[in-house]
Amino acid sequence: MQDQRKAIAVLTSGGDASGMNMAIRAVTRSALALGWAVYGVSEGYAGLIAPPEDGKIRRLTARDVGGILGLGGTVLGSARCKDFHDASVRARGIANLAALGVDALVVIGGNGSQAGAHALHEQGLSVIGLASTIDNDLEGTDITLGADTAANVAVDAVDKLRVTSSSHRRASIVEVMGRSCGYLALTVGLATGAEAIVLPETDLGPDEVAQRIASAYDRGKHHAIVIVAEGARYDAAALATILERDHRERVRFDMRVTVLGHIQRGGTPTVFDRLLGARFGAHAIECLERGDNGVLVGLRGNELVTTPLADVIGKQKPLALELVELAQTLAQ
Ligand code: F6P
Repeated sequence: MQDQRKAIAVLTSGGDASGMNMAIRAVTRSALALGWAVYGVSEGYAGLIAPPEDGKIRRLTARDVGGILGLGGTVLGSARCKDFHDASVRARGIANLAALGVDALVVIGGNGSQAGAHALHEQGLSVIGLASTIDNDLEGTDITLGADTAANVAVDAVDKLRVTSSSHRRASIVEVMGRSCGYLALTVGLATGAEAIVLPETDLGPDEVAQRIASAYDRGKHHAIVIVAEGARYDAAALATILERDHRERVRFDMRVTVLGHIQRGGTPTVFDRLLGARFGAHAIECLERGDNGVLVGLRGNELVTTPLADVIGKQKPLALELVELAQTLAQ
């Protein structure tokens, strides 16, 4: 009977992002509703290429994805798999799927993961990508799954840092993730009223940051917040060292550095990310049902859209730089 039906697999790859579980659930239950068989691949591409006896690809039922929608991270596990750059290694993954009768794969992940998905597609596998990374740096979507939750976690942390910074009349230099993209830093900086936002895209230097902190002091503020993207020319520690060394008298505030790090990846998915995960997952199955593949599912405005993976990989979405100016105006 199963040979009359479609069988698909789903995996999560790269850095985990809140909302992935909702997407796994939506992929699984939407496919089951069509009578398809669904397999979950553990630990991303590493699980896909593992020997079958390792049991990394297993059948999923509706109950297997119950109770996960409010959980951060990914119940399937994730990994970064360097071996996957090798076409012969990828062929092993395709063979593992074929042995189970699986003819399509849904890849939930960011840039590197979608490059892997594209490569699999080029090797003949039906693949659908779901745009998911806290960095929100993927072309083909306005927003990626997990970015909203990560931004909320970081905003909550910065709100708390502002409290203690105010008590001690300090400047907090806070580093947020985002790889080479300033989206998270800009979003968090705007949402927390930061005095300065240091991005890879704008390259605000130490002199200008010192000027902004000094100006906050002069305006009678009891704190200053500087948000630094991890991909900026100076990370938070390097920036603080320069400020301390070259601009101590000007900034006057005592300074402290906080690197938020992986905390940003561990939040409980926001409502936005839950809805996005549900919509992305269901849309992936609609695409496969109508025979589309080799595409990334994303969101434009409030519309679900698909973009060929070939047009997405290796690109970085440009940042909305007008928001940098807005953040600066509003922080006066
Ligand atoms: O791509 C998501 C991300 O969290 C980046 O913001 C960060 O640079 C990177 O992953 C960290 O990777 P890892 O979890 O492998 O340390």
